[in-house]
Amino acid sequence: MIHSRIAGTGSYLPPRIVTNDEFSERLETSDAWIRERTGIAQRHIADESQGSSDLALEAGKAALQAAGARPEDIDLIIVATSTPDFIFPSTACLLQAKLGSKDCAAFDVQAVCSGFVYALSIADKFIKSGQHKCALVVGAEVFSRILDWNDRGTCVLFGDGAGAVVLRASDAPGIHSSVLRADGRHSGMLSVPGNVSGGKIIGSPFLQMVGNQVFKFAVKVLDEVGREALAAAGAGIGDVDWLVLHQANVRILDATARKLGIPPEKLVVTVDHHGNTSAASIPLALDEYVRAGRIKAGHRLLMEGVGGGFTWGAVYATF
Ligand code: ACO
Repeated sequence: MIHSRIAGTGSYLPPRIVTNDEFSERLETSDAWIRERTGIAQRHIADESQGSSDLALEAGKAALQAAGARPEDIDLIIVATSTPDFIFPSTACLLQAKLGSKDCAAFDVQAVCSGFVYALSIADKFIKSGQHKCALVVGAEVFSRILDWNDRGTCVLFGDGAGAVVLRASDAPGIHSSVLRADGRHSGMLSVPGNVSGGKIIGSPFLQMVGNQVFKFAVKVLDEVGREALAAAGAGIGDVDWLVLHQANVRILDATARKLGIPPEKLVVTVDHHGNTSAASIPLALDEYVRAGRIKAGHRLLMEGVGGGFTWGAVYATF
């Protein structure tokens, strides 16, 4: 049987850091409120000249280097993003051209903050089918472009960035299981309800959210889907070395770990210095812990995302 295994990780954060104090200078908010309710102290914001494909390029190059792979080795590129450079072509095609990896399949996945888990699960299945051998799976976002910077309830929560993994065909697993879910009835809880038509924006181009409903829903489904992914692999809570959750806010992370019965020392936390980077948050967090020598080869990871749609999912893997 063909398995798929993460062969390398990479990430990129734009250099500009925005602290909570920058918000309190112009909005009715404070560093103390933002830290207490979200755990976020700072986030990175992309320069106007940078699109998601530029962030994805830097993360992708770092992942290729870590995997000892060349652009021409890649036969599948999947980019998870809700903030693509353009309506089309896809950010994955733009990334392919920038990387110089010719002719391989390339497409975007739109599952908002669950995007990376969706993309990783898809790449795993493409590799297990035998048709692809080496995939670059990227989460890349410039959420700063879809925020109303005068809405204190949303603009303080998000940041920009990209994370990537190289997923290779392997004799040993790898990815043991993945579970993907969605429920479009909850589309109004978190959305950017606008589109472009006839040269105009129809609806709203800004992120809207019912924060406290999102909070409760996220904790509930992350608990359920994590258990489902473990059960599908014949594993239990004790078989998790690291819980790599979508980095939405510290209170969601803590509450989910508690509900799953996973101790805090196994919980990966980067949202404090990245903010919520949507589809980029899981691979960004993964890469940070790998490069810090905390996540090591052989460790078992439970990766879980939840986001607009609503979408949610989990991947259980040996790193
Ligand atoms: N600074 C100060 N006050 C604020 C701010 C702010 N930045 N934002 C909201 N408030 C105010 C509200 O206006 C409200 O004031 P009011 O009582 O006068 O009406 C008060 O704080 C309480 O608002 P709540 O929304 O009830 O506050 P809550 O404790 O729920 O915290 C938060 C808000 C942080 C958004 C919380 O609901 C949350 O974390 N929700 C999850 C949302 C999330 O993480 N979304 C990320 C995207 S979804 C995802 O990635 C899965």
